[in-house]
Amino acid sequence: MNTSSNLLANRVSEIEESITLKITGLAKTLRSEGKNILAFSAGEPDFDTPSHIKESGIRAIQEGKNKYTVASGIPELKEAVCQKLLRDQNLTYSSDQIVISCGAKHSIFNVLMATINPGDEVIVPSPYWVSYPEQIKLFGGQPIILQTTEETGLKITPDQLEKSITPKTKLLILNSPSNPTGMIYSKSEIEALADVVLAHNIWVLSDEIYEHLIYGNNTHFSIAQVSPEMKERTILVNGWSKAYAMTGWRLGFIACNPDLAKAVGKIQSQSTSNPTTCAQWAGITALNGSQKAVNDMKAAFDERRQYTIQTLNTISGITCLEPFGAFYAFPNISQYFGKSAQGGTITDSVTFCQFLLEESLVAVVPGSGFGAEGFIRFSYATSKEAIVEGLNRLRSFVEGLH
Ligand SMILES: Cc1ncc(COP(=O)(O)O)c(C=O)c1O
Repeated sequence: MNTSSNLLANRVSEIEESITLKITGLAKTLRSEGKNILAFSAGEPDFDTPSHIKESGIRAIQEGKNKYTVASGIPELKEAVCQKLLRDQNLTYSSDQIVISCGAKHSIFNVLMATINPGDEVIVPSPYWVSYPEQIKLFGGQPIILQTTEETGLKITPDQLEKSITPKTKLLILNSPSNPTGMIYSKSEIEALADVVLAHNIWVLSDEIYEHLIYGNNTHFSIAQVSPEMKERTILVNGWSKAYAMTGWRLGFIACNPDLAKAVGKIQSQSTSNPTTCAQWAGITALNGSQKAVNDMKAAFDERRQYTIQTLNTISGITCLEPFGAFYAFPNISQYFGKSAQGGTITDSVTFCQFLLEESLVAVVPGSGFGAEGFIRFSYATSKEAIVEGLNRLRSFVEGLH
């Protein structure tokens, strides 16, 4: 008798393992075999958490802040989040509209659990962050993937959105700046999408986790800023992982209408309970303390971004739109389909990445994992030296294809 197939719920077979973590795992295995792997697959800053934030977490532990807190987060942190939203977005929220969770991924999971009934449709622009469709499916929802092209900057258009809305549509997920493309929606693009949303009875989950990583003269604009009506329909998600290099602390938040916040708090009270107590106190320091470290990290990312994009576009057969946010480049590599590497013929982004890893020891993530066949995701959240060497290896790899 096959016991595990009897044991597992059907929903497990309906979801995929994260491709990003899979590639990172393969790269680690090759590295443990002594291979000099250069990995551009990670979705986290290579910097350590700034020291004043680390010290604040340590202080909290030493002061005995080691007990359960209110399941939806400590009032002091909710207040700091309200202040942050007022300061950065000029948005007024009260504490009963904020829920602190164990990372933005957990926040999104909770929101989907609180809003999706089986059969509900959720619109997901592609390329998308890997977890959106899989989390939607976990709750019996149907991801409606909107394909985009380089002509529209890998972003959806209002017309496309309008056509995809049905009576079953519950949510649109917007992610600007985007993982994996690094693209950002401008204020006018967001306003045009908001017009469509407001003409229908749908909600927007706005994932703003890369808010602080925006380059050049560009600025972040949240769809909640469009109007009070749009704010009412927005579930704003953000967190500490990317801006403050706090991926391991597991801290994120939502800001939304009080009824949904209460529902999410109730779900959390029956699942994880509160996010780790010392992480919450450190989260206050991150928001209220000096932002110099954030700006320093951003400047370093920007330098690497410029080098990466310029270099990628000098490699024959590769084209890469300029990303203005996050820490990813998303080059088009489809011109190599049908060409042969030592390991075999490149038929898709997965075989491209597999041969690149095996033959040139460079780890990048196939676009198909993000719903975008023909592309790869190259994370420049790693040292400049590694980027220089990695792009040299990529160039030699593609020059060797025939
Ligand atoms: C677009 C996007 N949203 C959410 C998350 C989750 O972040 P957190 O570490 O806060 O769970 C990530 C992390 O990779 C992300 O890229």
